[in-house]
Amino acid sequence: MEYYIIEGGRRLNGEVSITGAKNAVLGLIPASILCGCASKIENVPDIRDVQKYLDILEKLGVEVYREQDNLYLNTENIESSDCSPYEEEIGKMRASYYLLGALLGRFGKAVVPLPGGCSIGDRPIDQHIKGFEALGATVKIRHGMVYVEAEKLTGARIYMDVVSVGATINIILAAVLAEGVTYIENAAKEPHVVDVANYLNLMGANIKGAGTDTIRIYGVDSLHGCEYSVIPDQITTGTYMMMAAATQGNILIKNVIPRHMDAVSAKLREMGVQVIEEDDGIRVIGKRPLKPVKVKTLPYPGFPTDLQQPMAVLMAVANGSSSITESIFENRFKYIDELRKMGAEATVTGRTCTFNGVEELSGTRIRATDLRAGAAMVIAGLIADGETKITDIHYIDRGYEHLEDNLRNLGGIIRRENSGNEEA
Ligand code: UD1
Repeated sequence: MEYYIIEGGRRLNGEVSITGAKNAVLGLIPASILCGCASKIENVPDIRDVQKYLDILEKLGVEVYREQDNLYLNTENIESSDCSPYEEEIGKMRASYYLLGALLGRFGKAVVPLPGGCSIGDRPIDQHIKGFEALGATVKIRHGMVYVEAEKLTGARIYMDVVSVGATINIILAAVLAEGVTYIENAAKEPHVVDVANYLNLMGANIKGAGTDTIRIYGVDSLHGCEYSVIPDQITTGTYMMMAAATQGNILIKNVIPRHMDAVSAKLREMGVQVIEEDDGIRVIGKRPLKPVKVKTLPYPGFPTDLQQPMAVLMAVANGSSSITESIFENRFKYIDELRKMGAEATVTGRTCTFNGVEELSGTRIRATDLRAGAAMVIAGLIADGETKITDIHYIDRGYEHLEDNLRNLGGIIRRENSGNEEA
């Protein structure tokens, strides 16, 4: 069992370059199934979720070749759209739900285990199912498997009852090769929705309006291979922005799209942090005391739920009372107990957590309760007095490439150690 040891109290200074977006590439990889040929995806992050996804595709018959951050996929010879033999691997991944839309779109049927992912509340897939049914598919759930099948997929008008990134992308995947026009109304506008649409369009799809409330998908007969570069990761960018802010550091975060960070930059500025935007970089200069703020997570372009936990660490040491309201997921405050162990004063009432800022956090043994909570624990460790031990860092490996190398380059003191047993 691996864990991190962090010596807190170092300011982070220097430069860090952001890799491709996890949630985008986890849509692009299954989207490649639709072309039934070879494709190249560049700027692919070296993270565990990507590796796990590729392992699953290989089992389905996809040829996978990786060279540094270039990924070559040939989806011509997929042997089956039945993923039930891989229940254990697939069941652990949230983004495995895209196999439903992609395999349905290409083969007219699929069997995929219900998706897993971070345990942050009830995560239904009813909107995905509603979309597939509107396109003419029948969907059944039996013994933890989703069975989806359509004699023919036909374009339809689909209104999403909740703004869902996963359902929006999944319906796009199923509709690209359908006959006629599909309208997705109340669609998610996240940058990775746009990225998946751009990739499919480069492969010959005809998708309009991605990044707005209404997406139109004009069905085409077939797709072809292409070369595509993944957008930079908005959440990793935000995490390093908060690391600079928290440690009173000065970090130039390179290879980012500053516009994707508007909500985060605005909140950091409200806290008194300097955020300087460049063409494809953002410099963040942290200053204490941090001013207290109120944050509410919202679908893009609002404040991203995936940065709720890292932001909480800043609030924990801000000068006064801050609050964060989680409006996307119902149970995303499990990590607050870990922050309390470090001395944070926080009260959770329903979907709002209120912080009474303290002077400093103190290092102790804490655990990563999920991926983004893990990132928050790292930030807490970086500013804490003394040594912090973070267990369950396998969650962090799901989404952050070379985190400890990057932090050491910025002047942080962090080590990955192995207890050699299951009880770190
Ligand atoms: C994706 C991201 C995740 C991010 C989230 C919100 C991936 C692999 N994961 O997750 O990192 O935190 O977007 O930006 O890209 N909902 C329903 N029914 C559905 C689908 C969703 O009620 O069929 C609800 C969810 O419970 C949640 C909200 O809609 O309350 C948003 O969920 P969604 O955008 O679908 O998140 P995920 O795709 O699970």
